[in-house]
Amino acid sequence: MEVIIQPTAADAGLLAARMIAALVRSKPTAVLGLATGGSPVSLYRELIRMHLEEDLDFSQVTTFNLDEYLGLGPAHPASYFNFMWTHLFRYINVRPERVHLPDGLASDIPACCADYEAAIRNAGGIDLQLLGIGSDGHIGFNEPVSSFSSRTRIKTLTPRTRADNAPFFGPGEEIPQHVITMGIGTIMEAREVILLGFGASKADALAAAIEGPVAQLVPASILQFHPKTHVLMDEAAAQKLQRAEYYRHVFANKPPWQRV
Ligand code: GLP
Repeated sequence: MEVIIQPTAADAGLLAARMIAALVRSKPTAVLGLATGGSPVSLYRELIRMHLEEDLDFSQVTTFNLDEYLGLGPAHPASYFNFMWTHLFRYINVRPERVHLPDGLASDIPACCADYEAAIRNAGGIDLQLLGIGSDGHIGFNEPVSSFSSRTRIKTLTPRTRADNAPFFGPGEEIPQHVITMGIGTIMEAREVILLGFGASKADALAAAIEGPVAQLVPASILQFHPKTHVLMDEAAAQKLQRAEYYRHVFANKPPWQRV
């Protein structure tokens, strides 16, 4: 696990965008796993800028999003489908037929989840998975004590996660109890992972995920077993790390061939 502390969330977003752009330039048919929430927004803005100003080409890229609320259709303002089109897809040249999100209106949920897993497999697997982290350490919508072997399936949100995500809903609007999310086993099969965590509210979760024991109570801690994970954070999110000085030292002394 590579731990990268940047002065601000915007700096970390730029760096993550450069990592994704480097992959897309070296492999134009890359399969990207994408995330929603506040954390990836500045990264998506930078990818859009690179597309418009530097010819970053998404025409052969395939995308799979982590999760979707059950009961919300694509037109719902708080759906992750709408989030992705609002913050990224409408501004780049990704082909709509290569964009995948779980179907929030699926009538046969187990079949929808199995189809999603099959579509990831048929695309050749995910080259790079982008993740945020919940304040309780969840990734995707895999809440604490999710099985480390889990696949795409229905999950019930915790009250804390529903409260954390309330700002994305209108005042008084009901926040769904249920979601479809890629499983932890699904996420762990991605060939590379970038996890973003910003702000003091993520400091405990990041410290537990990076330096604590690997435990089902902290789903992101499983990434300690992933062969190629980069965790990018700002100073506020890094304040609970015991080895922050070492991570800064490692990043400052990266061999030139490893830099993006
Ligand atoms: C939701 C999403 C997660 C995301 C998390 C953190 O729970 N399902 O994928 O990582 O929110 O979101 P934010 O980046 O807004 O803090």
